[in-house]
Amino acid sequence: MGKTIIISNRLPVSIQKKEDGLSYTPSAGGLATGLGSIYKSGDNVWLGWPGLYVTNDSEKEEIALNLKNENMAPVFLTKEEIERFYEGFSNTTLWPLFHYFPSYTSFDEGYWETYKLVNQIFCEETLKYANNDDIIWIHDYQLLLLPNMIREKLPNASIGFFQHIPFPSFEIFRNLPWRKELLEGMLGSDLIGFHTYDDVRHFLSSVNRLVGLDNKMGELRVEERICMVDSFPMGIDYSKFDNAARSENTIKEIASYDEFLGDTKTIVSIDRLDYSKGIPDRLLAFDLFLENYPEYKGQVTLLMIVVPSRDQVELYRQLKVEIDELVGRINGKHGKIDWTPIRYFYRSFPFTSLSAMYRLSDIALVTPLRDGMNLVCKEFIASKIDQTGVLILSEMAGAAKELSDALIINPNNLPEMADAIHKALTMSEEEQIRRMDELQSVVKRYDIHNWVQLFMRSLDVVKEKQHEMSVKQLSNHSKFELIEDYKKAEKKNTFS
Ligand code: UDP
Ligand code: G6P
Repeated sequence: MGKTIIISNRLPVSIQKKEDGLSYTPSAGGLATGLGSIYKSGDNVWLGWPGLYVTNDSEKEEIALNLKNENMAPVFLTKEEIERFYEGFSNTTLWPLFHYFPSYTSFDEGYWETYKLVNQIFCEETLKYANNDDIIWIHDYQLLLLPNMIREKLPNASIGFFQHIPFPSFEIFRNLPWRKELLEGMLGSDLIGFHTYDDVRHFLSSVNRLVGLDNKMGELRVEERICMVDSFPMGIDYSKFDNAARSENTIKEIASYDEFLGDTKTIVSIDRLDYSKGIPDRLLAFDLFLENYPEYKGQVTLLMIVVPSRDQVELYRQLKVEIDELVGRINGKHGKIDWTPIRYFYRSFPFTSLSAMYRLSDIALVTPLRDGMNLVCKEFIASKIDQTGVLILSEMAGAAKELSDALIINPNNLPEMADAIHKALTMSEEEQIRRMDELQSVVKRYDIHNWVQLFMRSLDVVKEKQHEMSVKQLSNHSKFELIEDYKKAEKKNTFS
């Protein structure tokens, strides 16, 4: 049995340059937690970009050594590669197109060339560790070409690929000049996973129309290989959020917020700064709510966390300006001396603070225009230990497929969102508990550990099927060869 190699563009650690040297902060994200039990054991390793630009060789060595102790290995990128692969093709081509923003998408041949080059760099780094009997699990849209690049070098490796963002419908995907190459890259995998069945359907339809392959129940024949495509909705570390919400630290933190939140109802909103998250529309819906239901002025506070993200990409910078202006305008319009309608923070928060915000809030407003899954809404659910609280959730989030007991809204429909806020505020405690109970049982059952297990098991099953198929092919082939050899033989033994 070989080792397991995890590959993602970003490593599960954030490295920052400080005055007194480099600082390392392990990621508290769901993926890092879920895969922790895998990559931290034995010879297993997680490969990825350390998230910063390093020029100095001794600094590179220091980073590699420190990461090695944690079973991680860095893939360093030059400034130009970061600009053209990460900010360029990944986040100005694939990200907007896959989130149904074709007008934000740039089609730049230079970005594409660098995307291919960086996928190749990831491949070469992987080959320093990987063998034919290893399991290799590749994550997300930054590395769509990598499965096939590795397959060409290690034809027998078990290669899984999981895409964390949506796979768009064929009519959107077909716009990409490099659509066929991207699909062929992904098809180097034995197993391809998406969050939802819709993503699976869209992918299979593109494969059919662009590569000409038909599927049987998600199974594709790629030359002599099987490639299975299925949905695996990702979960969170439920018990981590449940335990944190009960902890002394969280309770203390909640008490410290009382002063500025007073006894107003609280609506929480937490996202990375991203146009896919629908933050301006959410603000406009809150504005409309205050206009349509003025009796709630002074009674409700929107606690809005926007985590800085991809700030070198122009569209993200523009969005930041748009949000800043909207928050200022709405607070200026409705605010009172003793009440600020929107408490806005443009930064990230430590885990205990997030836990406190989830637990104290009466409503979570999660309204992405498009989202592969959305984990924030699941974290809110896991943190509601007394089972009161209402989740308002966009139908465009992958999570909406599982969380039908939330108040599901269309994020483009501002009056509907405003009414949903009102409905949530007036919902009886009994109904809140009934809905939350259902939501919690789903999120608890399909947690991150279950997700990792299910994906790994499915990869095993594909590999077993693959093995059976090769044995069958081999035995058919030898039978044929035997007959041919017999026919050609000069002396034939006969049994009479
Ligand atoms: N998050 C965080 N720090 C913060 C705010 C949020 O680490 O200050 C985390 C949050 O707990 C969640 C993740 O960021 O796990 C966001 O994941 P999601 O799937 O909702 O959206 P993504 O950012 O992956 O598009
Ligand atoms: C989403 C993507 C991830 C990505 C993360 C943060 O969750 O699916 O692949 O790592 O956003 O974005 P960043 O560009 O900072 O890595």
